[in-house]
Amino acid sequence: MGIIIKTDAEITIMREAGRITAEVLKILTSSVKAGMRTDELDVIAEKEPKRFGAIPSFKGYHGYPASVCVSVNDEIVHGIPDKRVLLDGDIVSIDYGVIYKGFQGDAARTVAVGFVSPKALKLIEVTEGSLRAGIQAARKGNRLGDVSAAIEEYVESRGYNVVREYTGHGIGRNMHEDPQIPNTTKSFLGMMRGTGPVLKKGMTLAIEPMVNIGGWETKVESNGWTVRTKDGSLSAHFEDTIAITDGEPEVLTSA
Ligand code: MF3
Ligand code: CO
Repeated sequence: MGIIIKTDAEITIMREAGRITAEVLKILTSSVKAGMRTDELDVIAEKEPKRFGAIPSFKGYHGYPASVCVSVNDEIVHGIPDKRVLLDGDIVSIDYGVIYKGFQGDAARTVAVGFVSPKALKLIEVTEGSLRAGIQAARKGNRLGDVSAAIEEYVESRGYNVVREYTGHGIGRNMHEDPQIPNTTKSFLGMMRGTGPVLKKGMTLAIEPMVNIGGWETKVESNGWTVRTKDGSLSAHFEDTIAITDGEPEVLTSA
């Protein structure tokens, strides 16, 4: 298919889609509290975008049954909201997207439920920092591998491990467009610094590092969706949709 470059008019719509995604995600993260069920978040995820003339994008995507992904503790991504009750000390990754005027926004944040351990807080900080490092490398003229290497270096120098089997992605009219964006040079794509496609103005990318305290290995639960760390260690996930510009990368999913 190839990487689809967006026009300025298309970026204008994606800015709106991104802002709505970020607004609803902020409502979701600030709703998180000990004692709530994760499927209460799905109700919010389903309803809130309608106020903005948008619809949630995840439901029905390859058969995914909900409007948001809620992944707790050792769950990395694609956790399905259910009757599980959030407990003080949990960390919760919330991944969310909408479609507005035919364009997609996609973003994720990990938040703490009540008081969490210092090492969990540090994991959350490092994962968010690695997304920022990846975004800073997403500049016109750089290559895709520079983004992957920046994320990996940020995480590994702080003693954590990047998930190798799941990647970020191009985004636009479809949630997943080319290119796949690995968060490490050690992924199945072997995207090293200075390699991969040259980044151009008008590319729109969802960058989404997933970081584990323990090993990078993953396993998929029997429901076919929920991805966990193989060793049971905690995992965090941050994602933003961005646009490559002539200058600073533009984060489209800020509220
Ligand atoms: N935001 C995620 C991604 O980038 C999750 C979408 S999975 C879905 O791939 F199936 F739930 F939509
Ligand atoms: Co994504």
